[in-house]
Amino acid sequence: MVPNHIGIIMDGNGRWAKMRGKPRYYGHKKGADVLEGIFRYAVDKGVKVVSFYAFSTENWARPQDEVSRLMGLLHTMLKRFLPIFIKDKIRLVVSGDLYSDKITERGRRDILSAMEKTKCFDKSIVNICFNYGSKDEIVAAANAAAVKGLPITKETIEQNLWTYGLPPVDLVIRTSGEQRLSNFMLWQAAYAEVYFTDCLWPDFNNQELDKAIEWYENRDRRFGNV
Ligand code: FPP
Repeated sequence: MVPNHIGIIMDGNGRWAKMRGKPRYYGHKKGADVLEGIFRYAVDKGVKVVSFYAFSTENWARPQDEVSRLMGLLHTMLKRFLPIFIKDKIRLVVSGDLYSDKITERGRRDILSAMEKTKCFDKSIVNICFNYGSKDEIVAAANAAAVKGLPITKETIEQNLWTYGLPPVDLVIRTSGEQRLSNFMLWQAAYAEVYFTDCLWPDFNNQELDKAIEWYENRDRRFGNV
């Protein structure tokens, strides 16, 4: 059984670029190409949702030039992917604090309009986690439930998450040898299997994804049961 929802922490772009004597954004650019190949391959394999951790709420602390490049990359990717998504009937979701004043008005408009244009598709979903932080997401969900006068329960929090409507994450993949979750989908990945690989994200490819899925398929998922 392939996982229904894969979440990917795409790490190692900076190191990959440095090894080649190039600036960090060169690694992010290559990483964006890899993202495209991987979602196409995952969708073909029958994975329903692929979530990519593209920019965290903590990433604003990076040098201004790198932050601007990543913002630019998001827009380039939205433009590049939209016709593909419409043709292949893939829904695009961007989850994160999209109403933060750190995101420009134009940026927000482009993101929301891309989501709107693909919202009728539900067979395959690509979720780009952008200005995303799991703790902020859970706090925002609890506040949204409270403002609506709802009791704070697992269900009301779930219904107010930025990712509402997406199924739980089955498999988290983190590249580059780091072994941590870095505030990525802590709620959604409560029962996920977590796969770490030394491969740097720009070197990740279909064979690496196959390896991760094969590893997942051999896991004994018990969800707290025996
Ligand atoms: C972590 O590697 C990677 C990121 C913070 C950005 C990931 C972005 C992409 C793969 C491109 C897609 C981008 C968007 C905006 C949709 P790192 O830079 O921390 O690598 P390092 O640990 O080697 O320094």
